[in-house]
Amino acid sequence: MFITFEGTEGSGKSLQARRLSERLRAQGRVVLLTHEPGGTPLGTELRGLLLHRDELQLTGRAEALLMNASRAQLVETLIRPALERGEFVVCDRFADSTLAYQGAGRGLDGQELASVISFATAGLQPDMTMLLDVPVEVGLARKHVQDQRNRFEAEALAFHTRVRAAYLAQAHADPQRWWCFDGTEPPDSLADSIWQTVMERMGRRT
Ligand code: TMP
Repeated sequence: MFITFEGTEGSGKSLQARRLSERLRAQGRVVLLTHEPGGTPLGTELRGLLLHRDELQLTGRAEALLMNASRAQLVETLIRPALERGEFVVCDRFADSTLAYQGAGRGLDGQELASVISFATAGLQPDMTMLLDVPVEVGLARKHVQDQRNRFEAEALAFHTRVRAAYLAQAHADPQRWWCFDGTEPPDSLADSIWQTVMERMGRRT
């Protein structure tokens, strides 16, 4: 089972991805917990360029391609092999981030992005996607506490508002794959809700 977490800045998805992985492992399941951009040596290099190198002045298209270069490497070297071994894969962000950030955020064409994504992933799609939805001001304020904003966090409020709306629209359009959670809920109760959702879905599959 391939489970992804999505959300705007400071939505708490990384914590929840970790919590879900821990719970699955406690049940004796083998879990690959990974993240995008990153997760491989190439991905880690690209993450550094994408998040912190303002002076490169990446264009939207270059940004989209680098995100997908990281994704291609991660899918082929880690995610697909793990799924083929029958393991769980939990990924903190995946292709839907490109549609939300480079599509709605940067204004690139969704269909063109979809074909780049399809090339990068060779068609791999998550079985379940957890959207942690938070008002953008709330999420950014959480990040502000951490004090070091990356290239994306430093974008204007309007950018993040478009990203959030795009996520909600994607979730609405495909309720078979997406589950939407209120990211302002306490982390423990969120973790319980996500756990229940995964257990229910697994029950349906077996
Ligand atoms: P995060 O994973 O620590 O939240 O940060 C990664 C940043 O990269 C985040 O601001 C969203 C952005 N991003 C994209 O713009 N497109 C993508 O395809 C991915 C995976 C991430």
